[in-house]
Amino acid sequence: MRWPIASSAWRPTDFRIAFFTNSGSESVDTALKVALAYHRAKGEGHRTRLVGREKGYHGVNFGGMSVGGIVPNRKVFSANLIPGVDHMRHTLDIGRNAFSRGLPAHGAELADDLERIAALHDGSNIAAVIVEPVAGSAGIIPPPVGYLEKLREICDRHGILLIFDEVITAFGRVGKATGAERFGVTPDLITTAKGLTNGVIPMGSVLVRDHVYDAFMQGPDQMIELFHGYTYSGHPVAAAAGLATMDVYDEEGTFEQSATLEDTFADILHSFDDHEKVIDVRNFGMMGAIEMAPREGAPGARGLEVHKKCFWDEQLVVRNGMDVLQFSPFLNSNVDEMQQSFEAIRRVIDSVD
Ligand SMILES: Cc1ncc(COP(=O)(O)O)c(C=O)c1O
Repeated sequence: MRWPIASSAWRPTDFRIAFFTNSGSESVDTALKVALAYHRAKGEGHRTRLVGREKGYHGVNFGGMSVGGIVPNRKVFSANLIPGVDHMRHTLDIGRNAFSRGLPAHGAELADDLERIAALHDGSNIAAVIVEPVAGSAGIIPPPVGYLEKLREICDRHGILLIFDEVITAFGRVGKATGAERFGVTPDLITTAKGLTNGVIPMGSVLVRDHVYDAFMQGPDQMIELFHGYTYSGHPVAAAAGLATMDVYDEEGTFEQSATLEDTFADILHSFDDHEKVIDVRNFGMMGAIEMAPREGAPGARGLEVHKKCFWDEQLVVRNGMDVLQFSPFLNSNVDEMQQSFEAIRRVIDSVD
């Protein structure tokens, strides 16, 4: 299906084609299948291996779980994860990068893990590598300076497709239409969901670069190129919600608004840098995390207590992943309200053991 390029809020050049899904998880599994099928269509069916990253979150379907690196999601299904998957190390390095404002300075060399995996299996056997440009669910982990560029270079060297899972980062979360645009690194496929309809109706998409699409379009017209799809792919109600959402993003300048708020958001977050219970503060765009020290012998307890107290005492929903408090404010947040919310969060952090 051709993406409605009429919208100026969302016009990634070179990604004219979208495959619609109903969730981020479906987008990820679709992207992995497209990558495998692409190589086969090009006569490189031996490229079957996939590479993910520790701490990556790519949804809960079998492909996404297999390339993902969140242990509790994988643990129960360990024996059934798909074969032929390697993981690069994650880039969270509190030792060297604690309290970085924006992209951390250290860790670009971790992209060389992909080079090592390519050396181990031979790069010609690898179909794709998938990463979140900014890891979300594992606790907001922005990429080290130069890391994504390095991944792109290594992929190019070995003919590996680069997939950015932008289920969180697309649609203004990092001040541009995509993380790809914000970082100036162009992947071959982009997965989206959430912001595509502002979350009001389930819908996701896989955006493919023209060269990927073209590789499928070599057969006779009457034949289906890729036997994959969902009953509700491109559901008209979801499509209407998506188009309406794009109009709002356009009319209200949502992405630009998000970009204007990110410095204030960073200031507010980093005012927690010297809090005695806090061991790291991380941020990029309108994504941020405050990581608290775990309680002796009870990792996660402090985070859960903050979450509950924020809800019951301050009427605030604060997501915690263990002891990491994770934030993604509205892209059109009001600064006063944002400040008040974080004053409430400070009261709560102060009040817990
Ligand atoms: C990066 C990323 N990929 C995939 C998913 C899965 O999306 P869904 O929950 O819509 O299946 C998520 C959900 O948070 C996500 O953050």
